[in-house]
Amino acid sequence: MPDPCTCGQPVEIVTDILRVSERLNDLKDVDAILDRILTESRRLSGADAGTIFLLKDDALHFSYVHNDTLFRDEANKHVYMTMTVDVNEHSIVGYVAKTGELLAIDDAYDLDPALPFSFNRSFDERTGYRTRSILTIPVKSSQARIVGVMQLINSKDASGASGPFSDEARTYLPLLANNASVAIERGIMTRELILRMMQMAEMRDPSETGAHVQRVGAYSAEIYDRWARTRGIDRKEIKRYRDLLRVAAMLHDVGKVGVSDLILKKPGKLTDEEFATMKLHTVNGARLFLNATSELDAMSREIALNHHEKWNGKGYPGAIPDLGAEDVALGVPKRGEEIPLAARFVALADVFDALCSRRSYKAEWSDEKILDLLREEKGEHFDPEVVDAFLDIFDVITAIREKFREEGGVRHDEIIK
Ligand SMILES: [Fe+2]
Ligand SMILES: [Fe+2]
Repeated sequence: MPDPCTCGQPVEIVTDILRVSERLNDLKDVDAILDRILTESRRLSGADAGTIFLLKDDALHFSYVHNDTLFRDEANKHVYMTMTVDVNEHSIVGYVAKTGELLAIDDAYDLDPALPFSFNRSFDERTGYRTRSILTIPVKSSQARIVGVMQLINSKDASGASGPFSDEARTYLPLLANNASVAIERGIMTRELILRMMQMAEMRDPSETGAHVQRVGAYSAEIYDRWARTRGIDRKEIKRYRDLLRVAAMLHDVGKVGVSDLILKKPGKLTDEEFATMKLHTVNGARLFLNATSELDAMSREIALNHHEKWNGKGYPGAIPDLGAEDVALGVPKRGEEIPLAARFVALADVFDALCSRRSYKAEWSDEKILDLLREEKGEHFDPEVVDAFLDIFDVITAIREKFREEGGVRHDEIIK
């Protein structure tokens, strides 16, 4: 559980909430924002677990989850679960979204049968968890529009005993939830903006799809997370870096907007000359972030430029002395740790996703065959530690693949050749 709240006086609680709300603005990715909101809400209320649903197309979509009892500290495949709940009075979250009112329940198993909603025990039955107290809070925008619903579960005191949520939690957490709505909507907008940007590349190259980009972003963030934990990197630093990586990785192929249709849309294999032109999508992409004004820009540039470099020094585009020069030639390939770290995660994520996708000219590979290839390429195409981290969290990887499913996929020859 996060550090317990040491506040207690109303002024201190409100100050604390305002400080938390302010700091949400540092985050870029919507998942990182939801993660922070749950962490802080649980710290303030002592909740053991929590879930956030976001409203989209008139339904509540499961969007993030914490549970200290069931999956504390481990790579969390549950975050990528897909579940929607209708906005109506039959479920607890649906009821709260419909009425816009906070709902506090002391024991989920002892609800008055006269209430319109019931508690769905299927999660508890599946996992052995015992839900008792539940605090369900609407997340509203400044215009009182419902953005989503946050549900906190099992309030625990300092000794670990669970009981009802305190009056303070009931009074003040709606303030946090409502302040957070601005950050949530901004995070959603950022992601949609990137997806739209990538749609431009997709219109040119139909194999570069929104779902591919979402998967590569999520895979990269999770592989990094495991890699960093294995190395004992500070948790705050892990969260900061993975937030940037999730977004920057989505832009890895943004330079494809600059590649000619004749090449992008050519059916079948590219000639050597065409492939040489295609390779320049790395340089074109990096150029978009030439005047990096933020860490996110700088990371996006590194990834766009280096996601086709290989650990063994057989990738591209190699060292480019002047990215801004008019005619850029491919340089001597980078190798090993010369390749920027962020790009090493994306390289594996991108190839893995290409291998998983069915294309007109290749059948879908089985997981076994893909994993064999990745093991073979450990220390060749890929950083060995990155491969190890990937294999360690393969259950999370498959959960991501499941969440962002689609038809089609990425061009295999561009990546593997
Ligand atoms: Fe690429
Ligand atoms: Fe890609």
